[in-house]
Amino acid sequence: SGDATLTKERTLAMIKPDGLVGNHTNFIQNTILASGFTILNQITLQLDQDTAKGFYAEHSSRTFFPNLINYITSGPVLIMVLEKVNAVSDWRSLIGPTDASKAKVTHPHSIRAMCGVNLERNCVHGSDSIKSAAREISFFFKKTNSAGENVSEHDEL
Ligand code: TYD
Ligand code: MG
Repeated sequence: SGDATLTKERTLAMIKPDGLVGNHTNFIQNTILASGFTILNQITLQLDQDTAKGFYAEHSSRTFFPNLINYITSGPVLIMVLEKVNAVSDWRSLIGPTDASKAKVTHPHSIRAMCGVNLERNCVHGSDSIKSAAREISFFFKKTNSAGENVSEHDEL
């Protein structure tokens, strides 16, 4: 209840392997903080094949899926939970269009334009809806067993 415009949201952000390799982490995190997000939690992980396939399950039937899984498991990723009013939509706006090569033309100040390379190597991830954000945050953080006990490998939120 209350004024919906004042309700904070959480979203999942990820700096993909090319973001870490290209030393874009400080720039991206400074941009996140300067844009009014709080970084509630973060972890650097080397995703294995099964984890990557689970995270991107919605794309499992797409032709680009094998390349996506190879890429996202090619090196460590930095996963963050971001919080602010309108976090899901605002983080998507900040990262820009999926295809970084097109973003360089249409959204030159977006993170994908500045740090990404092309459609596959686009440097960062952002949840596409509040529902996706909840699933993705639970996927990496706050894992509970059937008794409701925290069994997360990572820090609880
Ligand atoms: P998608 O969820 O459509 O994009 P976004 O990351 O903007 O939400 O796709 C997930 C990732 O899959 C995307 O970041 C890059 C990769 N991908 C390809 O490699 N080829 C494609 O044609 C598409 C649509 C995505
Ligand atoms: Mg997506």
